[in-house]
Amino acid sequence: MNGFENIIYEKTDDGIAWITLNRPKALNAVNTKMRDELYEVLPAIKQDPDVRVAIVKGAGDRAFSAGADISEFGTVPSVAIGREIRWERDLWGMFLSVQKPMIAAIGGFALGAGIEMAMCCDIRIASDDSQFGLPEANLGMVPTAGGSQTMPRLVLHGRVSEIVLTADRIDASEGLRIGLINRIVSRDQLIPTAETIAKKIISNDASALMYAKNAITRGLDMTLDQGLELEKRLSMALLRKRIAS
Ligand code: COA
Repeated sequence: MNGFENIIYEKTDDGIAWITLNRPKALNAVNTKMRDELYEVLPAIKQDPDVRVAIVKGAGDRAFSAGADISEFGTVPSVAIGREIRWERDLWGMFLSVQKPMIAAIGGFALGAGIEMAMCCDIRIASDDSQFGLPEANLGMVPTAGGSQTMPRLVLHGRVSEIVLTADRIDASEGLRIGLINRIVSRDQLIPTAETIAKKIISNDASALMYAKNAITRGLDMTLDQGLELEKRLSMALLRKRIAS
């Protein structure tokens, strides 16, 4: 898959799919074209048996992504049509539906839809000069790439409220402290670290990874009893799959 304008999609022989958000001059802001291209590439990642893990990163050295492209605001014919487009192409739902492990390698700004995209991934590695934030309230908006729902699943509720309601940015060490990101590394170690983690994941059984991700992500929305039931069902299904193969 190639020929994209606003993302770069690369697949390595060892099973890693790299998605590079590629608008470095605009700090990799998510415009309609990038949304469409991500919407096209994610099903390919889901379906391609050669892809074991996906890593999302930003082009250039300033940002993972500075969020939704502000220059496109107000360009859709109406708010209702804008919302309809989003519903028809539920990019964030598509991200969350990828059953393979996904890693966000964050170098620099990850704001609005940028950090929201990273929160759709399973693991977030950030360079020590990264900054995160949900600036939507500052723009008279509510986070619309899932952030109001995904962030409270990672970070304690009170801290999420502060981040969303003040629209303040936080730095990498604060991001690590509150559990928004998994690890901080120096800038030159960002991609190698993401790759090392990906390879470690790939060394595990592909089906076990898929079932485990399923248990973790779906279980979050369940009671403990329901989650334990889900875990039991998934481990039985995995066992049956093993016996059948
Ligand atoms: N949408 C479109 N373009 C964006 C963008 C966005 N979200 N964020 C940055 N850019 C563009 C800028 O317009 C600028 O383009 P130009 O060089 O053609 O003027 C370029 O990226 C560099 O940004 P700039 O603002 O000059 O860099 P900075 O270092 O002064 O500030 C930020 C960096 C991230 C703090 C600042 O760009 C910013 O606040 N961006 C908007 C973030 C935001 O509100 N996103 C959420 C939208 S819901």
